[in-house]
Formats: sequence, C-alpha cells, structure tokens
Amino acid sequence: MKVLVTGHDGYIGQVLVPLFKGAGHEVVGLDSELFGGCGFGEEGTSPDRLIRKDIRDVSASDLEGVDAVVHLAAISNDPLGDYRPQLTDDINHLATVAVARAAKRAGASRFLYSSSCSLYGAHGDAPIDESASFNPVTPYGESKVHSEQGLAELADDDFSPTYLRNSTAYGVSPRLRGDLVVNNLTGFAYTTGKVFLKSDGTSWRPLVHIEDISRAFLQLMEAPRELVHNEAFNVGSTQENYRVRDVAEIVGQIVPNSTVTLSDQAFNDLRNYRVNCDKIAERVGFQTKWTVPDGVRELYEAFKATGLTLEDLEGSRYMRIKRVKEQIDNGRLNDDLRWAEV
Ligand SMILES: NC(=O)c1ccc[n+]([C@@H]2O[C@H](COP(=O)([O-])OP(=O)(O)OC[C@H]3O[C@@H](n4cnc5c(N)ncnc54)[C@H](O)[C@@H]3O)[C@@H](O)[C@H]2O)c1
Repeated sequence: MKVLVTGHDGYIGQVLVPLFKGAGHEVVGLDSELFGGCGFGEEGTSPDRLIRKDIRDVSASDLEGVDAVVHLAAISNDPLGDYRPQLTDDINHLATVAVARAAKRAGASRFLYSSSCSLYGAHGDAPIDESASFNPVTPYGESKVHSEQGLAELADDDFSPTYLRNSTAYGVSPRLRGDLVVNNLTGFAYTTGKVFLKSDGTSWRPLVHIEDISRAFLQLMEAPRELVHNEAFNVGSTQENYRVRDVAEIVGQIVPNSTVTLSDQAFNDLRNYRVNCDKIAERVGFQTKWTVPDGVRELYEAFKATGLTLEDLEGSRYMRIKRVKEQIDNGRLNDDLRWAEV
C-alpha cells in the first residue's frame, strides 16, 4: 500500500516508518519537523518520500495515489496542550478533520488516527473498555475526543477511519522523549541515582512500548476493512496497567544504585485510568511483545551506550515543551507554531 504518515519525524513515527517499509509498504512522510536535530543515538530511517509541511496546509496533491493515512502529527502531550489550548484544538482537531477530508477526496480508503487513552481522563481504578464515557481533564485529551467525533462523521462505504487509543508510550526511539513517565524515571535514575516521583504515584496508567504501538497501526491497516471500520481500539495490554509508584519500584530494581525518592511537593495526578485492551486482541489478534521491565532495561542500556546526561534528559532536546518554547523565544517559530520566514 502507499501510506502517508503524518508526524513521521516524531517519537512514534521514527519507529513506525521502518516497520511499515519493512512490511513492503511505500511510505510518504509529512511533518513540519518541530524537533529536527533532536536526535538520540543513530539516525532514523527516512520515508520513501518526504514532505516538510504543516498539516494545516495539506492539499489534495500531497495525497495523490495514497491508499491509507497514518495520522500521528499533533500537539502531542499535556504540557504542550496546556501551553496553547486553542492552537491544540486547531491542530489536533480541526486540521485532523481537514486532512481526513482531503484524504477522502483523494480516494484513500483508510485513515488510522493516533488517539489516546487520555480521552478517558479521570476514571478511577476499574479497567475500562472502549465503551467508557469520555472524561478528559486537559485540552490535549479534549482534542482527541473532538477529533474522533469529527472523523466519525466522514465514515462511509468508501472511507474507514479507525481510532487507536494508545496507552502512554515508552521505549527507545531516534527521537527520544524525556517527558514520558517510564523514560523520565529511568533517565533520572541513570543520571542521578534517584527514581524521582513528581506525583504521589497513586494514579493508574496503561503503558505500551512504541514498537507495539507501531505494530498495532500496521496490523489494523492491513486488517479487513469490516473489522476496523469506524472502530476505536485501546492499544496496549490489559496486563500492562501500572500505578506510577510501581513503575518507580521497577526502575529502582533495574537501574543499579538507584533509590526511589518522592518530591516534597508531590501532587495527586488527576489523570487516572486503567484500560482493558481485549478488543484489539479479539478483533485482529494483536498481542503486545513488550512489558515495562523489558522497556526499562532497553532504556537503561541505551542511556549507558550513549552516555545520557541529566541536562539532555531535562533540556529542550528531549522535553517537547522546552523545545517549542525555546524555538519561539529565539524567533524561529511563530506563536502559532509555524516556522518564521527567514
Ligand atoms: N507518545 C505517547 O505516549 C502517545 C500516547 C498516546 C497517543 N499519542 C499520539 O500519537 C501521536 C504521535 O505521538 P508522538 O509521541 O510521536 O509525538 P511527537 O511530538 O514526538 O511527534 C509529533 C510529530 O508531529 C509533528 N507535528 C506537530 N505539529 C505538526 C503540524 N501542525 N504539522 C505537521 N507536523 C506536525 C512534529 O514535528 C513531530 O515530528 C500524537 O498524535 C500523539 O497525541 C502519543
């Protein structure tokens, strides 16, 4: 298939592109490259064709001959979403629906949307499936609800949107992120000897490796249409829900000479949900390969091999909000997250 991957230059995209190419698909990448130059380890794999563009400017010609769209590009976490809530809706919701409309007009029949379990928001301790109510507690979570609703209106006999409600990701990528809980705790433990919990650690969070997310996209794209048409799937494994403090304990056991430390300003995190991922297993036979302990070991080995520093982990190289603010402050990015003319 010819697949347009938006956000191919991001954390998940850099792991997904080689997987899709390896499976024999032709990949066109489209990204505004907000994180260009923020590499970790070896360079990632390039798509077969590359379009450096904002998703707000996508036109029919970008989608010529495309069979399926994997839509990853977004304001992709809560700190970024909180920074510019209206812009988050413009990019994550309105531009997403515009890309889907253009895809539909161009004759693409499949649209795989990178949604998030954060649309469940505050939900308590019982595992919830895809029929649970939406209760987002952040502009980012809200934008995922609105996008799914907007995309559903486009679903018809010729166009099948599918919503992948990803668990919180972890793992090594050529575009590493330091702002995700497993990566952050492991990086902090490696660089300081402390597994530093900023929240009180009682919240539940479903966790999934980025390679498993990428495999889920591939499997859902290749599945018969009638199994995935206008359907939402929690992406992860029902067994891989953890309290944040349990993740900290795992990190403490794996990273040598590290001890779990609680911040003296530890807060209670409202984002609390446990998800049931049985639907994707039953519908298309998807199984995750990774567990959190495996992921912590992978991260620890990669940090050792590259000599990660605390400065990098907590700086603009791997923290998305810091990178974006830095680019705005130095005049390279405009307030609307478009690159300034040079
Ligand atoms: N990482 C997670 O834990 C996680 C969990 C659930 C869902 N998701 C979703 O998966 C998707 C990808 O996440 P990620 O972690 O790879 O994010 P990321 O921030 O690492 O990458 C996003 C990519 O999109 C690009 N981008 C952003 N705005 C753009 C725009 N207006 N036009 C064109 N390109 C733009 C960026 O340059 C970047 O390369 C996002 O939609 C995110 O919300 C991520």
